[in-house]
Amino acid sequence: MLDSPCVEHLFIITGTTRGIGRALADRVLALDRSFVVGFSRADAFFEGNRQDVRIDLNAIETIGSAFDAIGLDSERTGGLKQTVLINNAGVLAPIAPIVDCDPEELAGNIRVNLTAPMVLAHHFYRFSKSFPGKKWIVNITSGASRSPYFGWSAYGAAKAGLDMATRAMALEFSRIDPAFRVCAVAPGTVDTDMQAQIRKCTPEQFERVDKFIDLKANNALFTPEQTARDLIRLILEGGLENGRRYDLREMTGQLPAETPAIATGKNAARYRGA
Ligand SMILES: NC(=O)c1ccc[n+]([C@@H]2O[C@H](COP(=O)([O-])OP(=O)(O)OC[C@H]3O[C@@H](n4cnc5c(N)ncnc54)[C@H](OP(=O)(O)O)[C@@H]3O)[C@@H](O)[C@H]2O)c1
Repeated sequence: MLDSPCVEHLFIITGTTRGIGRALADRVLALDRSFVVGFSRADAFFEGNRQDVRIDLNAIETIGSAFDAIGLDSERTGGLKQTVLINNAGVLAPIAPIVDCDPEELAGNIRVNLTAPMVLAHHFYRFSKSFPGKKWIVNITSGASRSPYFGWSAYGAAKAGLDMATRAMALEFSRIDPAFRVCAVAPGTVDTDMQAQIRKCTPEQFERVDKFIDLKANNALFTPEQTARDLIRLILEGGLENGRRYDLREMTGQLPAETPAIATGKNAARYRGA
């Protein structure tokens, strides 16, 4: 049961079992009048202001019923100020040059990193269009969407596709229903299982593995908790711009303040991270 019938901040976050997604869910749960729905492969769960809906995002056709399973009635959603979908779940594998990749794994990467966030956005509109307040979709992107990395063709292509999907959906929503906004956020390099997976690669699989080993050794990674703090602050206080691509390092001074949020040209080369 919900502690209070009145929810003001409703967050639906994918991939809440670990890493950035788990830290985001914890951060939102600490807010007053918030409710978090985790879409993850963990067991279903409903207690207080948290519900977990079990879903494997490889199964695109089950995404609609995951939204149907959200247990909030109109009494609870009537006072909403903001409903946010954070498309956070992601996979890096396969990490290998294309000639060595397993075709099924390649297809699965694009499905989870690109197709699923777009299908989630589709159902999010249907789910939330009658709610009062702002409706935002935040797509977690990566520096790899802008720079080609040897061994990361699927991941980089999926994230580049997600950047373009963000811009196109933002344009569509601006005409269909301006209560909706869509943006992309690159988190920088964050100390999660995904980074541990990168550090285990051989140079034959991933040429730049040494750089990532050095980042960890030099304590240059963000924690998931720092990342969640900065991202939730951006969402709650920043007034997200429709269609914009943000880099969380701008907020922490790792990128010069004058760097445009929509990075192009030489700014793109400054991006690092998965
Ligand atoms: N860490 C970084 O340095 C970094 C940098 C740039 C961008 N990012 C992006 O940030 C996001 C979060 O990454 P992370 O570092 O927190 O990764 P992580 O620790 O590897 O966690 C990935 C999350 O995605 C979930 N997931 C993967 N496949 C799924 C599926 N088929 N169905 C449902 N959930 C699935 C995982 O769930 P399971 O536990 O069930 O596998 C897990 O909760 C990703 O989009 C990633 O691309 C990360």
